[in-house]
Amino acid sequence: MKRFNIAVIGAGDMGRNHVRSWIAAGHHVVTICDVDPERLNKLGLEFNVPNLVADYKEAIDDSQIDIVSVCLPLVFHAPVTVYAAQMGKHIFCEKPLASSPAAADEMQKAVEAAGVQFGVGFQRNFSKGVEQVKRWIDEGKFGRPMVMYSDLLQEVRPKVAMHDRNGNQGPVVDACCHTFMMWQTFFHSKPKKVYASGGIMAQGRAEIAHFEQLAIDTAVITVEYESGDIGTITVSWGLAKKFKMRGRPDRIFGPKGGAEGSFNNFGIPAVKIELFEGEHTETVEVKQPDLFKEEFQAFVDAIVSGQPAPVSFKQGREMLKLSHAVLESIETGKIVYL
Ligand SMILES: NC(=O)c1ccc[n+]([C@@H]2O[C@H](COP(=O)([O-])OP(=O)(O)OC[C@H]3O[C@@H](n4cnc5c(N)ncnc54)[C@H](O)[C@@H]3O)[C@@H](O)[C@H]2O)c1
Repeated sequence: MKRFNIAVIGAGDMGRNHVRSWIAAGHHVVTICDVDPERLNKLGLEFNVPNLVADYKEAIDDSQIDIVSVCLPLVFHAPVTVYAAQMGKHIFCEKPLASSPAAADEMQKAVEAAGVQFGVGFQRNFSKGVEQVKRWIDEGKFGRPMVMYSDLLQEVRPKVAMHDRNGNQGPVVDACCHTFMMWQTFFHSKPKKVYASGGIMAQGRAEIAHFEQLAIDTAVITVEYESGDIGTITVSWGLAKKFKMRGRPDRIFGPKGGAEGSFNNFGIPAVKIELFEGEHTETVEVKQPDLFKEEFQAFVDAIVSGQPAPVSFKQGREMLKLSHAVLESIETGKIVYL
C-alpha cells in the first residue's frame, strides 16, 4: 500500500477527525495548520504530528506533502483548494463544497488545470446503515414510490459562526447536504422540485447578535425527485440552550414496506434499523466502521488507480444547488424547479 503524506488544514472538530482517521488509514500526517495556536498544539501533541504551522501556504508549499485535507470554515474552501491545486497537491475538502457556484467553478478549474484529484467529505454516506437500506430498496422490499422523512433539531450552535449568512450559511447549506446525499443515494434519481418554508428562530439571541446577517436556521423542506420519490426534512438550529428534544430517526417507506433508524449516523459502533415488510418486522443491527477512514481509503484508491474520486465536484455541486434552491424557495415562497 502506498503511504501518502498529509497536511491537515484546520485543527477544529473536523481537523481532529481527519488527523485521527488519516493515521488509522495508514497514512502519515506530516503537518497540521491552524491560526489558533492552542488548538494546533493540542492536536499536534495528541497525535505526535511533527510540523505545526499557522499559515496554510507554508503547509502546502512543503514538497513532501501529497494530499491537503481541508477542514476550514466554508469561505476558505475555495482559496485553499485553488492554492493547493496550483502547488500540484491532491485535495480532500470537507463538505459543503463551496460558498457559491462561482467559488466551486474556481476550485474545479484549478483542480482540472493541475490534473490532481479532488474529493469532498460526505463520510456519512459511507455509513453501513445507508448501505443496508439501499440494499433493501434495490431488492424491491419497499416498492416505489418512496417517501423519506428526516429530522435534525439542535439548539443555537455553540459554533456561532455556523449562523453567519455570509459564512457557513446555516443548516440548510451546512447540515442538510448530508441528508440530501442520502436521499439521492436511496432514490437513485435527481431532485426535480423543492418547496420549503422557514425562517430565523434564533432571532435576537445575544450570542449571534454580532452577525451582519443571520442565516435561516429553521426550515421544513420537501424535495420531489424525478423518480417520483419524496424526501422531507425538518431542520432547526434555533432552539433554546440545553434543549433536550432531539431529532427523530430517519423513516423511509413505500407501498410494500419501510425502515426506521438513524441510517447515516456516525461515530457509533453500530446502527440499529427496524425493517417493516408487509406483516413482518425485524430489528437489524449493522456494525459501523470509522467512516472517515472509509472515505479516505476510497479517495486514495482513486489516486492510485487514476480513476475519478468517488465523491467529488459532481456530488458537491448537486448538494449545493439543492441547498441554495431550498433557500430560494424559503425566501420567495415559491416552488423552485431544478
Ligand atoms: N463531515 C461532517 O460531518 C462535518 C461535520 C462538521 C463540520 N464539517 C465541515 O468541516 C469544516 C470545518 O468545520 P469544523 O466543525 O471543524 O470547524 P471548527 O470551527 O471546529 O474548526 C475550524 C478550524 O479552522 C481554523 N481556521 C479558520 N481560519 C483559518 C485559516 N485561514 N487558516 C488556518 N486555520 C484556520 C479555526 O481556528 C478552527 O480551529 C466546515 O466546512 C464544516 O462544514 C463537516
